[in-house]
Amino acid sequence: MAIRITKDADLTHLNTLGLPAVTSYLVEIFSINDLHELSREGFFEKENPFILGGGSNILFKKNLSRPVLKISIPGISVTEEDDDTALIESGAGENWHNLVFRTVDYHYGGIENLALIPGTVGAAPIQNIGAYGVELEQVFESLHCFDLRDHSEKIYRHSDCGFGYRDSIFKRELKDRVIITKVFLRLKKKNHTPNTSYHALATYLENRKITSPTIRDVYEAVVAIRRSKLPDPVLLGNAGSFFKNPVVEKSVHQRICIDYPDIPSYPVADGSIKIPAGWLIEKAGWKGKKVGNVGTYSNQALVIVNHGGATGDEIYQYAMRIRESVKNMFGVELVPEVNIVE
Ligand code: EPU
Repeated sequence: MAIRITKDADLTHLNTLGLPAVTSYLVEIFSINDLHELSREGFFEKENPFILGGGSNILFKKNLSRPVLKISIPGISVTEEDDDTALIESGAGENWHNLVFRTVDYHYGGIENLALIPGTVGAAPIQNIGAYGVELEQVFESLHCFDLRDHSEKIYRHSDCGFGYRDSIFKRELKDRVIITKVFLRLKKKNHTPNTSYHALATYLENRKITSPTIRDVYEAVVAIRRSKLPDPVLLGNAGSFFKNPVVEKSVHQRICIDYPDIPSYPVADGSIKIPAGWLIEKAGWKGKKVGNVGTYSNQALVIVNHGGATGDEIYQYAMRIRESVKNMFGVELVPEVNIVE
């Protein structure tokens, strides 16, 4: 497919918050060759494009002053296999959930806990997507990208990516510097041990008397849990968790425990404690609240929703009010997980 260019493009349907934003032009590419072609035409010298995948983790505060480059590179295949594992190659533009669905159909294990995460495959490594006890980095092998600094193709292996909790080198040092074109994941064909460590998942399976869950059982459980807790962006605009779960020092956790002994918390390797932001936001009185066109989801306070007609700035102001009240109440600073585009 040839490069597709749309002038004065409306991005409302290209971001899951459903925010109205216009860009002077939208360039959609379907292969790495398209990137080379843009490079030959001097596009990257003239412009500093905003790179868009599935638009599921983005808040457009206003219209964009730069062109948008939408990465729609397709293709899912098995590139290498041995007795126990399969190496899956996916174009960056593939829908993440479609990839999960396909691998579960093949009985390949490793990403079934990551079902229904919105967005594209190319965006997955950027924030090291994670859910229900699994993070992308556990199956990630490598990725190919187009380096905007020298217009060459490069390969990043796992150890090059600096993965952390909802974090990687692509969010930090390499932000806006590379375009991910292909991702390789190593999945299990045999002897896969499903990860059912996450409380909600274990409870769901126990209630159904599933004691030795298959890959499909876990997939179906995750789909059901997510559907019950998280709004479908097609029906109600949202970008998943708006904030990261804050990691605080033990002393801060102990101080909060005095007034709130029921605070859920998860110890992290270095002795700090991770607190669910959703719990803090709910305690601060925001769960299910609505101000104008913006609200907090009734089943999960960590998700900010667009009830229809909200602007990016409205969502941003609402999020900042949440942040302020959590800070005043608990002395904990929430950091947005969503990428805020000025
Ligand atoms: N909680 C509340 N009130 C709420 C929401 C949560 O009290 O309104 C408390 C509950 O005690 C619950 C705990 O927080 O047991 C954890 O909640 P949940 O299992 O829903 O997970 P989370 O920590 O809120 C994280 C991810 C989600 C991911 C789920 C499941 C982050 C920022 N979010 O949410 O990821 O689906 O775990 O693994 O790490 C996303 O990144 O967009 C996303 C949805």
